[in-house]
Amino acid sequence: MDQLVIAGGKPLAGEIEVSGAKNAALPILCAGLLTAQPVVFDNVPDLRDVGTLLRLLGSMGVTVERGVHRVTLCAESVGNPVASYDLVKTMRASILVLGPLLARFGHARVSLPGGCAIGERPVDLHIKGLQAMGARIDIDHGYIVAEAARLKGARIFMDTVTVTGTENLMMAATLAEGVTVLENAAREPEVVDLAECLIGMGARIRGHGSDVVTIEGVSRLEGTQHAVMPDRIETGTFLVAAAATGGNVRLVGTRDDTLDAVLDKLEEANAIVERGQGEIRIRMRGPNHGVSLRTSPYPAFPTDMQAQFMAMNAVAQGTTVVTETIFENRFMHVQELRRLGANIEVEGNAAIIRGVSKLEGATVMATDLRASASLVIAGLIAQGETVVDRIYHLDRGYEKIEQKLSCLGAAIYRRSDGDAE
Ligand code: EPZ
Repeated sequence: MDQLVIAGGKPLAGEIEVSGAKNAALPILCAGLLTAQPVVFDNVPDLRDVGTLLRLLGSMGVTVERGVHRVTLCAESVGNPVASYDLVKTMRASILVLGPLLARFGHARVSLPGGCAIGERPVDLHIKGLQAMGARIDIDHGYIVAEAARLKGARIFMDTVTVTGTENLMMAATLAEGVTVLENAAREPEVVDLAECLIGMGARIRGHGSDVVTIEGVSRLEGTQHAVMPDRIETGTFLVAAAATGGNVRLVGTRDDTLDAVLDKLEEANAIVERGQGEIRIRMRGPNHGVSLRTSPYPAFPTDMQAQFMAMNAVAQGTTVVTETIFENRFMHVQELRRLGANIEVEGNAAIIRGVSKLEGATVMATDLRASASLVIAGLIAQGETVVDRIYHLDRGYEKIEQKLSCLGAAIYRRSDGDAE
């Protein structure tokens, strides 16, 4: 397994380009199942999860052409609408094929995604919504077996705000008979990007970005060309890395209107954040004050940025509190940060971080995608050498992270643990 080796203590400086958003690209690729015509997607990030999904779509019979950040799909003849456990277990977002398969082909067999390091990750709201649209759904030996001659529009209230639940049901509703209203829908920018892509395919959707999304079903969708939005979590991750190392960084190819909560928290931590056309610059005004935060659905502070801020808080002046309200086990990075010298106590879903003057390099283990990012940031801050193990987690959601960090002056390289002395 690969490792990242980091010699920390250097402020990041320079300019890098942000990649396309993983959490927009995954549902948008699944939208390709909704039409028999070719679809072309640009700004698709080169990530492990994207590769996994393209293998899954190919296994169903979708033709897949992959260029540099461009994917062309054609789902004209899908002979095998099945998502097998061996693929789904490596990437839970595979559940996003369920709605499109059921809407286009009337049947689907999708493995229940297992839980993962950060939580149980149920999909009951996906299933309940499809049943409300008339689908017959059984669970058979760990698989969701769904049938529906034609889905029917319905009014669906989602008890919990669910991003992929909203996306699955929105995609299913595009080909249903009649109107579907999703209430308490997720408002994330990635949901909006998917909706814009579907509208480009001929779907009739309004209210996306609000908590009530209305979809009027049509008989079929057309091909389209759509560019995936920039990744707001990658953007936030590099901004935090710059702030935490006392650096001065400019991100280009991004957007500044999809992460207000993150930018506000960085300013509260004593950073100067300058927004431009498709770019954001950050440097510190003075000492890192750290910042307390509480995760919530968009537009509030995103859970996917919680671990990264904890690394910055670890060396901040004073004590901060990080509260995680979305996932039940998203503090796996805490024990690893402690190995680097961080002073963090966990009480239920709150972590109390008492800033220390410095972190000291050590070997740490990545456990999930954003925890890995947190450990890389901590390694950039720490004095001495940090080795982050099991970075396949990181490769799921960050494109060329060590190259981008090296462009910003970080002393970082990848090695396979077979090379470890
Ligand atoms: C999406 O996951 C993202 N993944 C996650 O990003 C992100 O952390 C999460 O949304 C929250 O913003 C993708 O978009 C591919 P949820 P998702 O359904 O949709 C409960 C990353 O690091 N729930 O919004 O799976 C659930 O248990 C990943 O890039 C149900 O109870 O998350 C959780 O407590 C990690 N029943 C809450 O809702 C359901 O049927 C929010 O989960 C569905 C969800």
